[in-house]
Amino acid sequence: MSLLDILFYPDPQLRKVASTVANVDGRVAQLVDDMLATMYDAPGIGLAATQINVHERIVVIDVSDECDAPLTLINPELKLTEGEVEMQEGCLSIPGIYENITRPANVTVAAIDREGNPFELDADGILAVCIQHEIDHLNGKLFVDYLSPLKRNRIRKKMIKAARERDEEYDDE
Ligand code: NI
Repeated sequence: MSLLDILFYPDPQLRKVASTVANVDGRVAQLVDDMLATMYDAPGIGLAATQINVHERIVVIDVSDECDAPLTLINPELKLTEGEVEMQEGCLSIPGIYENITRPANVTVAAIDREGNPFELDADGILAVCIQHEIDHLNGKLFVDYLSPLKRNRIRKKMIKAARERDEEYDDE
């Protein structure tokens, strides 16, 4: 297993729309394993392939306290959304930023698992929010897109400044 580099907002690659996975084969299973390792290492509760610059419809999630309940969604599709919930969201591609976002509270998602088997899942709470957040990534959408342009621009500037500081640190080494 290898750890993959995560793209940071406002990297334009994060705006790409991911393509459907045609075959869930060994290559995809390996990618899923690497994505899970990267997510646990970060640490985070969800990671979309888009965030590691792979533009295929693959998402990994684990919202369990013990980090022992990995969920893989390949070609995920929201079948049903219901209700409304406001929750604080963060993103591995936008480190240090947390904002309240309103989304549907309940979802039914259809997807394919790591072994290539189709399944459907009903979710609520943090899992429902995480599923929607990760599917947004596959469509080139980020949680800051739900904020006002003013707020988003402030976050954008903050991230550009943080990236510059990271670069300078590397230069000093
Ligand atoms: Ni995210």
